[in-house]
Amino acid sequence: MKNVTAFVASARKKHTYNSVRQFLGSVQSLGDVESEIVVLSDYNLKTCRGCRVCCDRGEELCPLKDDRDALIEKMMTSDGVVFASPVYSFQVSAIMKVFLDRLGFAFHRPRLFGKTFTSIVVEAIYGGQKSVEYLDFIGAALGFNVVKGSIVQSLEPLPEKQQRANESILAAHARRFHDRLLRPSYPVPTLFHLMMFRMGRTKIRLMLDDSSRDYTYYRDKGWFEADFFYPVRLNPLKKVAGRVFDYGAARSAKK
Ligand SMILES: Cc1cc2nc3c(=O)[nH]c(=O)nc-3n(C[C@H](O)[C@H](O)[C@H](O)COP(=O)(O)O)c2cc1C
Repeated sequence: MKNVTAFVASARKKHTYNSVRQFLGSVQSLGDVESEIVVLSDYNLKTCRGCRVCCDRGEELCPLKDDRDALIEKMMTSDGVVFASPVYSFQVSAIMKVFLDRLGFAFHRPRLFGKTFTSIVVEAIYGGQKSVEYLDFIGAALGFNVVKGSIVQSLEPLPEKQQRANESILAAHARRFHDRLLRPSYPVPTLFHLMMFRMGRTKIRLMLDDSSRDYTYYRDKGWFEADFFYPVRLNPLKKVAGRVFDYGAARSAKK
């Protein structure tokens, strides 16, 4: 049985919440899945003060006391995660952004490998495309395997035709997500993701030292010597590309 947690970033239980319910209902009906909806506004999330202590010295030293760790624990114990947000002012809602900023250190030190991620965005008219691309990028940066998110429309009153279109978008999205959730979950990285890993880890190795949490995290995970974040078989082309990315990063670190 796989478990999926959806994080909903709207304070009212309307279109975003209902879209997530429909999506999860469809995913569950495809079999072997249980799910939970987490409404972020029911949790205590404080606004990041930008002190950088989490990034530099460790997340446990963050001066803010809120529900960040409980929410991260929910992600860590899930096989699949959904981030869902309405479009506010042409981007994700402020509640979603506050949540993402609380995860800032985890973009430096990703940890959600082997898990499936997707996003659902609700727009009235415009802004959904950028918002869904943003959330999918965030999912990849956290280490997830990303299934492209979907956008549904909520212009009120919602014409019946649009309601049916939303339902079929979410049903198709649920099938793609379910398929990925049940497949082997440590894919060979794309060239882009390989480049991000190799350049990042080489710069961390050469430019930081063990007074930095990023350095000790990468060192302790064996990432300074690894091909990628997790064991994978790179084809000969990607093996060479990986070395080129390391070399390029080392040269730019010396400048
Ligand atoms: C403060 C605010 C800003 C909004 N900005 C946009 C926007 O830029 N583009 C858009 O298409 N819809 C915008 N909307 C409409 C919401 O995306 C839409 O009402 C959505 O259904 C809200 O989600 P909910 O039903 O889950 O609360 C905005 C709504 C609010 C309250």
